This record gives sequence, structure tokens and C-alpha cells, in this order.
Amino acid sequence: MDDLQKLEKDILAAIEACDDLVILEDIRISEVGKKGRISLLMRELGKMTPDEKKTFGPKLNGLKDLINNALSDRKSALELKELNIRLQSEKIDISLPTLPENNGSIHPITQVMDEVTEIFTELGFSVAEGPEIEEDFYNFTALNIPAEHPARQMHDTFYFPEDEKGNRKLLRTHTSPVQIRTMMSGPPPYRIIAPGRTYRCDSDATHTPMFHQVEALVIDKNINMGHLKWCIEEFCRKFFELDNVKIRFRPSYFPFTEPSAEVDIGCAFKDGEILIGEGDDWLEIMGCGMVNARVLENVNIDPNEYQGFAFGMGLDRIAMLKWGIPDLRDFFAADLRWLKHYGFAALDIPSLSTQNNKVGGDRKIGGSSSSENMSDSSPLNQNGGQ
Ligand code: PHE
Repeated sequence: MDDLQKLEKDILAAIEACDDLVILEDIRISEVGKKGRISLLMRELGKMTPDEKKTFGPKLNGLKDLINNALSDRKSALELKELNIRLQSEKIDISLPTLPENNGSIHPITQVMDEVTEIFTELGFSVAEGPEIEEDFYNFTALNIPAEHPARQMHDTFYFPEDEKGNRKLLRTHTSPVQIRTMMSGPPPYRIIAPGRTYRCDSDATHTPMFHQVEALVIDKNINMGHLKWCIEEFCRKFFELDNVKIRFRPSYFPFTEPSAEVDIGCAFKDGEILIGEGDDWLEIMGCGMVNARVLENVNIDPNEYQGFAFGMGLDRIAMLKWGIPDLRDFFAADLRWLKHYGFAALDIPSLSTQNNKVGGDRKIGGSSSSENMSDSSPLNQNGGQ
């Protein structure tokens, strides 16, 4: 018994004195490992009388537990010590200036968002936001896409697991739920854009599971399709920096707009490149239409008093067009060489009007745009209700 107490003292002292994780592991193996001292003593139990076993057995087990606990405490302490030493040695002085070759750049998507926002704020729009984890009601039902509506299938929705009440949240498949949130937040008129991330379960050279859209919504008295057309044409002229952009409205269908159209922009495919503003080819850039009276009724707006239009545009798509970026997936590959080539200088304010944001990269941008203030001449201002 005395032996056991001495053993306990010795082993615990050795653990306490140990300053190295490798040596600690050696101690563990030689004491409580399969062939360790304690394990060998355990084997002795078999040769003992029942009485001896009764007293010796629990003591031995207790000792084993004690050693194991001491080992794990010491291990945690040593790991923490090691971590702290590492943190100290890997400390980065963030106040040091970076090397010029390590400068970051503005991602083309951020640049596009800033440019789009600038163009629409000049036209009198404000920016609205909504959550990316959305409820079925805002993403579908209120937009006149009830359960079982075939349009739901086209959206390749990412759903979350059901909650206790049987409701499933989802990753918004478009920015259109922001239309509903805006209209439910107060009375008309509204003139908003909502840029942001959207998600669909789809992936190839022109689709990524996460992509970006910008939604526009105008609701007022006496708004008609002419306003919609002017607004989109004006946007394209400004964004692509071309005085003459060919635009085509193709009849289409969206449950939340009536009538609905898809907008194509005139372009040419030359030597594997896309040139905007020339040629006889067309590329689809957005969906649009007059807000369906049913949607207005869903948010308690009287369609006889208020009307309006909405459109939703792929931001990644128009960035590809503007800067001739061939593969959508590259936007999100986080490849530094790509970012250096297509990125924009970080410290320049990304702005169409200042035109000073170009770094590296060959960009197929047309002639520079005039910077007249459009808000005065906007037909939306002339006809919009009060
Ligand atoms: N939400 C539609 C889409 O993602 C685009 C759209 C928006 C169409 C607004 C019409 C009006 O495809």
C-alpha cells in the first residue's frame, strides 16, 4: 500500500514537472498505457485473494483515474502555452504599410453595384435592402407564385429544414421579395432599387449557385410601360457608356408582372469577344414588366389608384458584358491574378462620373458618357403622382 502511495506521488510529480507534450505522452504510455506500470499492476489483481482484491482493486482504479486526469490537465495547460508562444511569434504588425504589389482591389461586382447605384440614385431612386434568408411568403406567395405554381420549379430553390411549425425558410432566389418588403413598409409612392445576393441551385459557365441581381420598383400614379422603357434605356446608355444602345423588349412571362418582357441588348460576337452596341446579335440582360395588380392587392395597394413597373437584372451578367469577362465562375474563384487583372484600384472612389477608376486589364468600354444631371429631365419626375 505504501508502494502505491509512493507511486502516486512520483507519477504526479513527474506529470507536474513535465514541460513538453512529447515527453508527457511518453509518461502516459509508460504509466497508464497498455504495458504501463499501472496496467501491469492491474494484471497482478488476478493473482490476489478476494480480500486483497477488494482493497487493492479500487485503489488501483482510483490511482489510474487520478493519473489520467492529471495527464489531461497538464496536456491542456501545455497546449495553451504552446498556442500563446505561437500567437506571439506569428504576430503581424497591422500598422505596417503594405507592399504595392500586395494592394487589394475592388471586385468587379462591387464596382458594378456602385455604378448601378450611382446611375439610379441620379434618377431619383433610393436603395432598399432585404434578407438573403427569406420567407416563402416574400419570395413566392406574395409575388403571385402560390404553392404548386410551376414557376417555383424554375427557381431551383435552396430550402432550409422545416421548423416546428412546418415552415421552411429559403435562400432568396431573386431580389423581387424586396419589392414586397418595400410595399409593406409604408404607403406609396416608391422608387427603389435593391441590389444584392441571390441563390439558385445551378452551376456552369454562365450560372453560379450565388449570383447578384438588382431589382427596381417604381409605384406611383399614372406610371406606364413608357416610363419603364425609358428608364431601362437610360440605364443602359449610362452603364455601357454608349449614346446608342440597341435594346429589344421581348414579350415574356413573370407571375408578378403583367405584361412582362425580357430585355435584350444589341451586341456582336467578334473573335470570341462580346462587343456591346454593335452587330446583329442579342443578349438577354433582365426581366421586367408592369407590377401585376394581384401583387398590389396582396400588399393592400389599390391597383386602380397606383400602378408601376419592376425589373430585375443580373449584375454578374452585365459586369461580364461591360468588361468582357468570359466565365462567371471566375468571379468567385478568389484567384489573385484574376482579381489583379479585372479589379479596380481600391482607393479611387468607384464612380462613373469621375471615370478615374481604371487599373490594369483590357476593358472594352465605349466612348465616355456625358455627365449631365438626369434627374431634372427624367420623365418619371414629370409624370409621377404626388
Ligand atoms: N425576379 C425575376 C427573375 O429573377 C426578374 C424580374 C424582376 C422580372 C422584376 C420582372 C420584374 O428572373
